[in-house]
Amino acid sequence: MPTIIHLDGRRVQDPAEAAAIIQSLGLTVAGLDLAAAAPTELEPVLRRQRLDNWRAEAILADLANALPPGYAGRDVVALFPDTDGLDSILAAFHRTHVHDDDEIRLILAGEGVFGFVLPDGDQVEITVVPGDLVGVPAGAEHWFRLTESRTVVAVRLFGTNPDWRARYTDTPIRFPH
Ligand SMILES: [Fe+2]
Repeated sequence: MPTIIHLDGRRVQDPAEAAAIIQSLGLTVAGLDLAAAAPTELEPVLRRQRLDNWRAEAILADLANALPPGYAGRDVVALFPDTDGLDSILAAFHRTHVHDDDEIRLILAGEGVFGFVLPDGDQVEITVVPGDLVGVPAGAEHWFRLTESRTVVAVRLFGTNPDWRARYTDTPIRFPH
């Protein structure tokens, strides 16, 4: 069960409440056994805090059998504290927005936080950690931020619509950060 936090800081403990929130968002959340897939090129990426294209290809090749089928494209994104332009990259994510395509991420390392505006206007944040496969449906109002580690490595899966640019809604984020 992913970690879900309410605006008042309360962590959802009840699996039924967590399931209801996930369902109301149309979210998919699954756990993958990363240890079984063990992408061999991940460790050098983490050690050097740098992702080369060929390492990304090797990571995707190692994960080929673990990733869900049926997606038109995939790549690997890696953000570290010393990534060039990290603050401006994060600023673009940390605004409420929607996409015309599903946003699907498999977290390989580090962690991140997806925030959501619920249908009733309430807001929640969901922390994603290695092994979490998250699908944010097209049109779901959300944001994304990193935690204090400022580190995440994730596979991005793309559907048939190649245009998943953020369309900002700029609903105020009510979490205190
Ligand atoms: Fe997004």
